[in-house]
Amino acid sequence: MTAIPMEVADPFELMHPERRKDPYSGYARMLREAPVHFFEPWGAWLVARYADVNASFRDMRLLSARTGQFSAGMSEEVRKMMEPLARNLSSWALFLDAPSHTRLRGLINKAFTPRMVEALRPRIRALVEELLDAARGKERVEVISELANPLPVIVIGEMLGLPREDRHRLKRWSDQLAGLIGTGRPTPEQVKEGLNAILEFEAYFRMLIARRRTQPGTDLLSGLVHSEEQGSLLSEQELLSTCTMLLFGGHETTTNLIGNGLLALLRHPEQWELLRASPELLPNAVEEFLRYDPPVQFTNREAKVDMEIGGHAIRKGDRVMLMMAAANRDPAQFKDPEKLDVRREELRHMTLGMGPHYCLGAALGRMEAQETFAALLRRFPHLKLEPGATVDWMDNAGFRGLLALPVVLGAEAR
Ligand code: HEM
Repeated sequence: MTAIPMEVADPFELMHPERRKDPYSGYARMLREAPVHFFEPWGAWLVARYADVNASFRDMRLLSARTGQFSAGMSEEVRKMMEPLARNLSSWALFLDAPSHTRLRGLINKAFTPRMVEALRPRIRALVEELLDAARGKERVEVISELANPLPVIVIGEMLGLPREDRHRLKRWSDQLAGLIGTGRPTPEQVKEGLNAILEFEAYFRMLIARRRTQPGTDLLSGLVHSEEQGSLLSEQELLSTCTMLLFGGHETTTNLIGNGLLALLRHPEQWELLRASPELLPNAVEEFLRYDPPVQFTNREAKVDMEIGGHAIRKGDRVMLMMAAANRDPAQFKDPEKLDVRREELRHMTLGMGPHYCLGAALGRMEAQETFAALLRRFPHLKLEPGATVDWMDNAGFRGLLALPVVLGAEAR
């Protein structure tokens, strides 16, 4: 095992709040000094190299069924209290392995089709324009709260067929879940909030599902309720869990793709100019934003059997974190990995995962980001970071996003 001095509990400063500004210099050192190592504070192996992360995503000896990790160390009493949460999470496709995962993902795929997603493009474009219209005449705008945050909540809400006025509730539930799922080890307070969110969320969706059973519409929720394969339907719990997963997965992540991407671009004005001059580069630019500053920095697995990763012996039951954000900066895979380059070729980043759990909403998230950047570049060509503004990050090692992104819009192009 790579030797890390005992007195250094957090050698790459993963838990250091100051590191939220720049976790990447820590990852660069991790890649050089300890690309596979056991990280005591999280009780997990960290895997940083691109080749190892890529192989691990496809390695079926690494299990996705890992919800037991949330309740590890809890008393019997607390565990009992947490049952509704455990029940909800244990039917997320994200936390299942074959064959249960294959069946569930197949049923969800029938409702959440690429055609359905592509058909949303004009609606997403119109929503972006609408949100930007609200900024018309203002000198300054806070991009996270006025654009990056509302857009994905409205989009996933409309897809599911939920009333627009409910979006603030949806956002609150999703935030509370992020506190629970995004941290290495949630605090008791975060666990309690996550539990409340699940209970309220399930009550809300139970009612909507009952309605869709008798009065199906054309929305995604109706599609999920009636999705069937060889006589198999989604159970009530699977429906509730899938709605939770879609709401959660579709929203914080996309907000932060827009926020992190825009910050990167504004800090590299020559790249902004390049995109203004050649908007056809946008799809590639969004991939580069995903690589450069991922909204999801890592994910985890649990070893099913004794095995080896990068020459290290991993024992059955060990927790393994796949550090996508580090893998995306691996010089063995990417030339000048620290450089933002919207023209970069060979952009196979790890940010959306790989293998059987590859992000189900990848096309949707990409589209929301592409439409947002296209509209910003076209309408506000002189957009700048607000001079002197401090840029603060959420204090969460796993989900990376800005608390606020204040910008000066500049003259609107006509
Ligand atoms: C745009 C930013 C996004 C990022 C960075 C992202 C990231 C990821 C990652 C890393 C995984 C794999 C996790 C693992 O294997 O442990 C994943 C899976 C998933 N994502 Fe996304 N995601 C994004 C957008 C979305 C959207 C818009 C939706 C839905 C509306 C969504 C829904 C899901 C679902 C349901 C899964 C689980 C798939 C499965 O387990 O089979 N994601 N995502």
